[in-house]
Amino acid sequence: MSRFLVEGGHRLSGELTVQGAKNSVLPILAATLLNRGVSVLSNCPRLRDVDASVEILRYLGCSVLREGDTLSVDTSGLNRAEISDTLMREMRSSAVFLGALLARCGAAELSYPGGCELGPRPIDLHISGLRALGAAIGEEGGILHCEAPALRGCEIVLSLPSVGATENLMLAACGAEGVTSIVNAAREPEIADLQGFLRACGAKVSGAGTDLVTVEGRAPLHGGAYRIMPDRIAAATYLCAAASAGGAIRLLGAEERQLATVTAVLREAGCVIGGEKGGITCRCGGRLTAVHPIRTAPYPGFPTDAQAVAMAALLRSQGSTVFEENIFTGRYRHVDELIRLGGVIRVSGRVAVVTGVDALHGAKVRSTDLRGGAALCVAALAAEGTSEVQEIQHIDRGYEDLAGQLRALGAQIVREE
Ligand code: UD1
Repeated sequence: MSRFLVEGGHRLSGELTVQGAKNSVLPILAATLLNRGVSVLSNCPRLRDVDASVEILRYLGCSVLREGDTLSVDTSGLNRAEISDTLMREMRSSAVFLGALLARCGAAELSYPGGCELGPRPIDLHISGLRALGAAIGEEGGILHCEAPALRGCEIVLSLPSVGATENLMLAACGAEGVTSIVNAAREPEIADLQGFLRACGAKVSGAGTDLVTVEGRAPLHGGAYRIMPDRIAAATYLCAAASAGGAIRLLGAEERQLATVTAVLREAGCVIGGEKGGITCRCGGRLTAVHPIRTAPYPGFPTDAQAVAMAALLRSQGSTVFEENIFTGRYRHVDELIRLGGVIRVSGRVAVVTGVDALHGAKVRSTDLRGGAALCVAALAAEGTSEVQEIQHIDRGYEDLAGQLRALGAQIVREE
């Protein structure tokens, strides 16, 4: 089993280029199914979840080539509309293939993506939206059977702004006759990135980034070239790493606009952050101070994906900070591991209270999920002595060479296989 060994107590300095966004590239890879040509996607990070999406595309008959950070997807060989259970299990966000397959093939069969380490992960909004577009969807023994000989555009009102449902419905709507409006759509920047790719292929989509997305379906689509946006959650992670360990770093490619709630918290805690064209700088000197309650919310609120790394950064702050996790029920599993490193955290339901301590100490800890695992690394950078972070396969799902990137900033962290 692979693990990271982290020697804490070294300040960070230097710069790095932020990887391409995991949460953009995954729906965009599914979206390549909509056109019959070749899609050329640059700035694709090397991640386990990207590999899993590529496996799904190949299983469906597409050819996918990687050259450096560019993936070329040729979907002309698509020959099935069913995804095996093993491939579906490999990646939780594979549900987005449903909308793409329905649009392209008029049918899809895949296993129900189950719960995950963040708690239950329902897809009821995806399904009711697809039904409103005219898909017949049944479930038998955990397998979803979907048929849609003729999707028709309509108005879909989401009861909550789900990122995955918004993306899935955008993809299905591209294959529907007429206009689809998605009301109360999620506003995450990754949805605007998906729109950017779809438009590059000729699709008529507008409004992504606002709460009303409109799709004029059945526009003739062709292959297209597109560059994946930088990963704002990876950027937030490196900012929190600098806040935790102290030091001065520059993140190239990161956009402060997309991270405003995270940088506001770090500024309040005492970091000096500069948003400049093409990057973000972050300087953290002495001990951080506690901040006003951090409440996770859909974009542009504080991202649930940055909750764990922000918590890790505040473990040694002066005072107490309240966290309120409002998106996923099971998202405090990193807390017990942070406590092993010396953190003082109390959890009650969706609330966690972090009381800052003078010092953290190295320990053996276990990644429980992707962002929780990154949070352990962020905390270990500030701990006295050496920490061992185990189960780092979770981290590999979403960070391209986390250890190498942190080493580029002067951290003492190595990977052992
Ligand atoms: C995406 C991100 C994930 C991020 C999350 C919230 C990807 C690949 N993943 O996940 O990293 O943490 O957004 O920003 O982009 N819900 C329902 N019914 C549904 C769909 C969602 O009740 O049909 C609930 C979920 O249980 C959750 C909330 O809505 O409580 C938000 O989920 P959603 O926005 O759909 O997250 P994902 O798309 O799964």
